[in-house]
Amino acid sequence: MQDEENVFFTKSSGGKNCYVCHYLGVADTKDKTGQRVPNMWPFQSMSSALFAAVRLAARPLAQLSAGGATLQQPAATHLQLTSGRRTGEQCSRWQCERRSNMATAKKVFNFGAGPAKLPREILLQAQRELLDYDNTGMSIMEMSHRSAKYTELNNRVQQDMRDLLKVPDNYKILFLQGGATGIFSAVPMNLMPAGGSADYIVTGSWSSKAAKEAAKYGKVNMVLPKMDAYNDIPNESTWKLSPDASYVYYCANETIHGVEFRYIPDTKGVPLVCDMSSNFLSEEFDVSKFGVIFACAQKNVGTSGVTVVIIHEDLIGKAQPIVPTILDFKINAQDNSVHNTPPMYPIYIMGLYLQWIKKQGGAAAMGQQAQQKSRRVYEVVNSSAGFYSLPVAEHCRSRMNVPFRIAGGDAALEKKFLEGAEERGMQQLKGHRSVGGIRASLYNAITMDEVEALIKYMTDFQKEHAKK
Ligand SMILES: Cc1ncc(COP(=O)(O)O)c(C=O)c1O
Repeated sequence: MQDEENVFFTKSSGGKNCYVCHYLGVADTKDKTGQRVPNMWPFQSMSSALFAAVRLAARPLAQLSAGGATLQQPAATHLQLTSGRRTGEQCSRWQCERRSNMATAKKVFNFGAGPAKLPREILLQAQRELLDYDNTGMSIMEMSHRSAKYTELNNRVQQDMRDLLKVPDNYKILFLQGGATGIFSAVPMNLMPAGGSADYIVTGSWSSKAAKEAAKYGKVNMVLPKMDAYNDIPNESTWKLSPDASYVYYCANETIHGVEFRYIPDTKGVPLVCDMSSNFLSEEFDVSKFGVIFACAQKNVGTSGVTVVIIHEDLIGKAQPIVPTILDFKINAQDNSVHNTPPMYPIYIMGLYLQWIKKQGGAAAMGQQAQQKSRRVYEVVNSSAGFYSLPVAEHCRSRMNVPFRIAGGDAALEKKFLEGAEERGMQQLKGHRSVGGIRASLYNAITMDEVEALIKYMTDFQKEHAKK
């Protein structure tokens, strides 16, 4: 396992003892080649030749004492811990893999539709900082949401999102609770006057749910005729938009059906509201084309508990009087998303995720990767001579959620495919219960290697089961 590790020295009398690899050490030492060595304090006064011998011998010894864990090169960073809460500092001499679940956890490929895989680096950083956030001596979960540290985090996460998406200055970024489902209600209550109307482009289950919710607060115009199955987006020229609608609503990526808009609808000046829950920050896009964008975090940018709302300032302050305070965009914007206690931990995780995306090359890099990953899976399906098939029209096939059927929807064979996938550690590939089949979700954290593993399995499965 190549991950950065999180190992601590405990202070024992006179020295320090890493409670995992059992190295004893006091300070960083470098050998002649500039490499850090495990500076075991009892042996400090040894000649360098003897020290080198001890060092060599110590590796297998330490491996033994760590229950067979392997030793790696030192961590780049030290983590100073406050003595009252935890005695110790990070073992930076040699990183050893802990006997904890991180080291021993079986390797799984999580193709779930959400909550979805998080990059391992983020989990490890969160683990490192769990007990002591930024030298505060306490966990982020324990501090006041009005503290300077949390204010700094809140502002930084907003700024990182602004940078990544080039959000114009006349847009506010809010971190709300209640999931994307909460925003289904918040949107009509904030944007549609009592007795007003809004246009809904329903292309799948999520936009359908949003339309039903909006109908509680005003009139909903259905832009498209009702579909028997959600596997296409009718051409824009056929849409029935109403010029007096307060807004036009759509879902950029229907997670269940794998139907993704590959363009931003033209609403002829009516504010556009978009549910981007399952393709948020998976590519660059022009924020200025939207009135409101919202996304729950648990697919592409973090974990459940926080929902991002990006809203044009002109749309703030039009709420119906019945809007609950916690869903009132104006109050949340005025109070910088700390009107009440925010979901601090999910916001912190989202902050780590945004920094990770920055390191990967930003939204554009996410876009390239999403294109490559989904193209590989679609290619395998397309070259399977019908063994695998795609329910969705080509022009709106999702880069995030790839649903497919096996042998025309053979339930027994699909079950076998899922069982074989589980045996190979590939999890959560089952299609949504409302549509069946298989669905591979390829969010930002999914690597090309994981996609290649899936493709190999698909190819092998076809060889074994396709009728000759
Ligand atoms: C596109 C889309 N919108 C809305 C939701 C609902 O999100 P939440 O569970 O955070 O309310 C989901 C959840 O999967 C989704 O995929």
